Amino acid sequence: MATLLKFAARFSNNLTQKHVFAASVRMSSYLIQDPKYSWLKDLGLDVDNKGVFCGEWLGNGEVVTSYSPTTNQPIAKVTQGNSKDYEKAVKAAREAWQIWAEVPAPQRGEIVRQIGQALRDKIDLLGRMESLEVGKILGEGVGEVQEYIDVCDYAVGLSRMFAGHVFPSERKGHALLEQWNPLGVVGVITAFNFPVAVYGWNSAIAMVCGNCMLWKGAPSTPLTSVAITKVISSVLEKNSLPGAICSLVCGGSDIGTLMAKDERLPLVSFTGSTQVGHKVSMMVQERFGKFLLELGGNNAIIVNEDADLDMVVRASVFACAGTAGQRCTTTRRLILHKSVYDEVVSRLVKAYGQLRIGDPCEADTLYGPLHSTAAVEAYKNAIEEAIKQGGKVECGGKVIDRPGNFVEPTIISGLSHDAKIVQTETFVPIVYILKFEVLDEAIRWNNEVKQGLSSSIFTKDLGNIFQWIGPKGSDCGIINVNIPTNGAEIGGAFGGEKHTGGGRESGSDAWKQYMRRSTITINYSKELPLAQGIKFE
Ligand code: UN1
Repeated sequence: MATLLKFAARFSNNLTQKHVFAASVRMSSYLIQDPKYSWLKDLGLDVDNKGVFCGEWLGNGEVVTSYSPTTNQPIAKVTQGNSKDYEKAVKAAREAWQIWAEVPAPQRGEIVRQIGQALRDKIDLLGRMESLEVGKILGEGVGEVQEYIDVCDYAVGLSRMFAGHVFPSERKGHALLEQWNPLGVVGVITAFNFPVAVYGWNSAIAMVCGNCMLWKGAPSTPLTSVAITKVISSVLEKNSLPGAICSLVCGGSDIGTLMAKDERLPLVSFTGSTQVGHKVSMMVQERFGKFLLELGGNNAIIVNEDADLDMVVRASVFACAGTAGQRCTTTRRLILHKSVYDEVVSRLVKAYGQLRIGDPCEADTLYGPLHSTAAVEAYKNAIEEAIKQGGKVECGGKVIDRPGNFVEPTIISGLSHDAKIVQTETFVPIVYILKFEVLDEAIRWNNEVKQGLSSSIFTKDLGNIFQWIGPKGSDCGIINVNIPTNGAEIGGAFGGEKHTGGGRESGSDAWKQYMRRSTITINYSKELPLAQGIKFE
């Protein structure tokens, strides 16, 4: 069910709340028409929005309504792309590439710098927009736009730094070099929970590398996709560059499938569920394309006996209940040493009781709704399943009786480390608490899930830390010490191993994934020596 839910909420355009509330849409007006939400118009949004951009705005596919998860009221509508619109966008992006690839990399960096500035100018509006459409709290909405800005800054520097090597050639009068060239048009498919930052990680880096974008956001966050594309396109237009450098096609799995099968997209970067990511990568592999996967996580925090418990409690509340449990990096398993178990559980239960639950757009709210009604169902099913498998609800466990998709943040104890539900990633705010005796056992449990995204240990012991980050430690892509599993910085490479898909986005040398490596040998002599001393005369 959990995987099905993620499929529904993060990829398909069929199963979100839009059908459930279709009737009320007809009766009520859209939030964008309410003066309280007139600021949405400052982002270039209207009641009816076109969902395809390729230098011009169009859209001839299904009309989808975007709902606020806080009340399930309709915000506005977006006309998605159909297959003809998709075709038009790919062609335009390919034409734009002819121009973009010739712009010197530092000048491409200058365009990305301007995009970062344009995002800064609208950060509060965009953050509020996210809060409204995704349901994440205001601080996190703004923080997500900040992540895009940060990666723009990073990419500007990178535009003067990504480098190939010069190797010593074994042949006289020869140069052996490595040059990195752009791929062309990069397909980017993003999920509902990070509709701004994940596109930013991909696009800012891929753009300075010399690629054009074809972006499909989640079908349930189309307004965010449109608003972000408007910010980018205004910068491209001001610089007399083709808008199709950053093309957008709003759509569902139909557009996703077209992208995965399209040989004109040499790379498809996909963020979403393991189940859909698997399907996408198989389609891309079928045509020998490249894929970059950022899929599910079943992340754990290990709390050792020597941990600073004040830090543990604060970190865990954010890690487990922040974003209402809807980050890939959310902590889903808390592995506590038996000597600190009782204290951590009771302090956590108390802290959960003090979480300010409410409208995510209100400044002091810490915990908002789930994104979709499908997620609420997944939450209910997981609680039922956990109890059936022997779990004890320490706190939470119920749907909150108010409009919107609110559920109580939940702590469940008493389950075995290998219980089926503990091994399953359900994309909701439920954490399972486990008790361990020796650290080796805790590390083994950390590693025994299918996914390998993020992980944390709380300890003051140097030996433990180096065991944790070494070959027999955590098998995840993100390995933290004395911080939560979530909230990674953009400077590092982001992604994970095993069923998380193996891709790395954002910082470090993740840029290499958006380029093809050319190994070049130049003979500048008048001889023709063959390598390895071979004589062929
Ligand atoms: C995601 O949930 O898909 O580390 C990305 C974090 C964020 C990114 C999460 N910087 O929690």
